[in-house]
Amino acid sequence: MKIIGTGRALPEFTLTNDMLSEIMDTSDQWIKERSGIRKRQVITSEELEDLAAESAKKALENAGMTANNIDYIICSTSAYEYVVPSLSCIVEGMIGADCPCIDVNAACTGFIYAIDLAESLLVARKDINNVLIICADQPTRMVDWTDRSTSVLFGDGAGSIVVTKGNKLKSIKVNSKSNVGILKYKRCLEPTPFITKDEKDAPLSMSGQDVFKNAVSASVADIKSVMESAGITKESIDYYIVHQANIRIIDSIRHHLDEDPVKFPHNIENYGNTSSASIPILLDELNRTDCFSEGDVIVFSAFGAGFTSGACVIEW
Ligand code: ACO
Repeated sequence: MKIIGTGRALPEFTLTNDMLSEIMDTSDQWIKERSGIRKRQVITSEELEDLAAESAKKALENAGMTANNIDYIICSTSAYEYVVPSLSCIVEGMIGADCPCIDVNAACTGFIYAIDLAESLLVARKDINNVLIICADQPTRMVDWTDRSTSVLFGDGAGSIVVTKGNKLKSIKVNSKSNVGILKYKRCLEPTPFITKDEKDAPLSMSGQDVFKNAVSASVADIKSVMESAGITKESIDYYIVHQANIRIIDSIRHHLDEDPVKFPHNIENYGNTSSASIPILLDELNRTDCFSEGDVIVFSAFGAGFTSGACVIEW
C-alpha cells in the first residue's frame, strides 16, 4: 500500500485546562505536568459520523479522488451510539460511496490494525485498489466526568487516510495481550425478561500507571521489531508518529530508543488523547504543513485497551 491522501475533523468546542479547573478539583499546572495537555476539542452538538465524514471527504480531496473510487471502507471506533449499522456504513452514505464497509475496534491501536487489514486486502484482492481508512473516536463520552484522573486526558476527533496499491509499507506488527482490568468501559445492553445477572454501566476506568508501563514497553518492543523486519536502523528514520496519549509516555518511548526530540512530532497539547484518531490527525497536520518529503521513512506506533499495540514502517 501507499498513503495518497489525509484529512481530519475536530469538534468546534475548545475545552482548556483552566475551564476544567472550574468544574472539578484540578489545575492547568497538574494536567500540563502529568500529561502535556493544554486544551482539547470536545463534542457538543456534533455527531461522530459528521466528523468521520468530514475527515473522509478531506482525505479524498487530498488524494484527488471521489468516493466512487473507493473499493473498501474501514472505520476504527471504540464507542459509537449506533451498535448497528456500523459507522463505516453510515459514513458510506454520507460521502456517496458504494463499497463494502467494516468497523474495527482495537481501541487506540485501531489505526495500525486498519492499515494491516487494508494492506491484506490490497495484496490479496485484484478488485480492491483504493481503501479509505477512517478513525473517529469520542472518548469524552466514555469517561466519568466526576473522575478527574481520567476525564482531563481526552478529546474527540476524526482522522482519515486514503491508501492505494503500492510498496510503501515496509513492515507492520499488531498485537493483543488480553488485560481487561487496566483499561475498560462497559455498557449494558437492553434488559430482557430473562436476565438474572446483576448489570450496571461502568464508565471508563483506568489504572494509569499500569497503562503507562504497558504502553511504553509495548511501543518500544513493537518499534524495534518493525525496524528489524524492515531491515532499517534508527539513522534512516525521519519521524516517529506515536499515539498521542500522554507527552510523558511519548518522551519515555523516545528515551528508550535514544532518539532526537525533533523526530517525535506531537499535538497532544492541543487535542488531548483522541484514541485511534490521534495518529491520523497528527499525520494530516504534518502533511498539510508540507513536513514530509518523498522517501521519508516514518514509524507509526499505537497502544490501547485490550491491551492492544502495533507499529509499522512506511515510506512517504
Ligand atoms: N488534577 C489534580 N490531581 C489529580 C488529577 C487531576 N486531574 N488526577 C489525579 N490527581 C491526583 C491523584 O488523586 C493523586 O493524588 P494523591 O497523591 O493525593 O493520591 C495524584 O494526583 C497523583 O496521581 P497518580 O495517578 O499517581 O498520577 P500519575 O503521575 O500516575 O499521573 C496519569 C496520572 C496522567 C493518568 C498517568 O498515570 C498516565 O499518563 N498514565 C497513562 C494513562 C494514559 O495515558 N491513558 C490514556 C488512555 S489509554 C490509551 O490511550 C492507551
